[in-house]
Amino acid sequence: MDRRNFLKGAAVTAVAVGTSDLGTAAEHLSSMAEEEPETLLASAPMLQNFAETSVGVVFAVNGLANGYVLVGERADLGDARKVLCGGCRMADIDERVIQVRITGLKPATKYYYRIGADRIHYGGGYDMAVIGSEEDPRIYTFTTAGKALKGSFCVINDTHVRWNAIGPELDRIAALAPSCVIWNGDASNTEESLEDLVSIYLDHPLDRKDYAACTPYLFCPGNHDSRGRANRHLERVWMYRQPEERSSRDWDLGRNFAVRLGDMALIGLDTAEDKLDTNPRFAGLFKSGPYREAQTVWLRDVLSRPDIASAPFLVTFCHIPLFDDDPVHNPGDIAPDDTDPRYSSDYAYWQRTCARMWGPLLHEAGCQLVISAHMHRYRFDPPAADRCWAQLVGGGYSMQEGEGFPTVIEGRVMDGRLRITVHNIFSGSVQNEFEFNPIQV
Ligand SMILES: [Fe+2]
Ligand SMILES: [Fe+2]
Repeated sequence: MDRRNFLKGAAVTAVAVGTSDLGTAAEHLSSMAEEEPETLLASAPMLQNFAETSVGVVFAVNGLANGYVLVGERADLGDARKVLCGGCRMADIDERVIQVRITGLKPATKYYYRIGADRIHYGGGYDMAVIGSEEDPRIYTFTTAGKALKGSFCVINDTHVRWNAIGPELDRIAALAPSCVIWNGDASNTEESLEDLVSIYLDHPLDRKDYAACTPYLFCPGNHDSRGRANRHLERVWMYRQPEERSSRDWDLGRNFAVRLGDMALIGLDTAEDKLDTNPRFAGLFKSGPYREAQTVWLRDVLSRPDIASAPFLVTFCHIPLFDDDPVHNPGDIAPDDTDPRYSSDYAYWQRTCARMWGPLLHEAGCQLVISAHMHRYRFDPPAADRCWAQLVGGGYSMQEGEGFPTVIEGRVMDGRLRITVHNIFSGSVQNEFEFNPIQV
């Protein structure tokens, strides 16, 4: 579907408001009519940061706009409240991406919602007017996370803007209908512009435009998701969790997550770069070291949170593996510049620094499984005597015969056990199934 025609059939109204602005707005409307403007709403909504009492709704627009979400528990939105984009102090206006943060939701509850936006004429300090409004005619749904939601998750990773792999992955996810999806990093390559990011997450070229409109997504960034000027401000398209969901200490940890999904607790971590901060190629522009330490403090706290500590199953997600037993695989802490003849690469195959900080905490908490990515090759590492968690490494993006096949990893609790199904997206078959016992308390 073409972006311009995304809102085909939508109610598009032109509204001129104010007093002194009427002339300016009318002139603007007149010129717009001559130009046959694009529809204002330019994408389906994407649900971001699945959580118990809040969710983010993000969508693209084609002009300066103030966007909103109508959300309620009734299917006809008869009880809907209107939530504007932006923070507490004022509503936001943006030319390309609208982010609406919905708070005050009930856990494990189904909600209905619709998106809309007001086109804003902005000529300067007092020269502002609403010059048109659009609402998506469709009503979407989402269900918040929570202990009472007996659902499932799916994981994709290392999509690297390879649409021929992402398309079948999204098809499989649609068939599996999970409660949420974890995008486990390397969605990007090196994105330099906001438009690059919009085309990955909000307005992609695939048919399944509404892939994330009713299925909430969580994000564990990969090393590529911080590369390129645009990715340095990924929050412009991938919003942070709610400010009230994190303390000021955790302010920069906007996408880390610790949520209950029925009997499962899902933990999201960011392993950050696969090269050292001191690597000359990075010109001192990365701070992965302190970022990982900040997450360690956060992880220790969330693992002791009653709702997380009481979960029978603990599954952790992060992009770079936390374990690798091949001695020639670079562990990511080779100072000063990641090079050493003992290792087969000058970048991390696994993250020993994170493993040393997070591994013991996860072991102590009884974590059954770490799902990671980064290697573009599916593998399973069984637990060991000093490491109670197993590790699943998601596949790559190759849609040709070989070992780099893409995976969708599905997790759900069945008959009191955690069942993990690895779907091979190239062959269309189930690659493996694993089952895990609940944590023995
Ligand atoms: Fe990758
Ligand atoms: Fe990676």
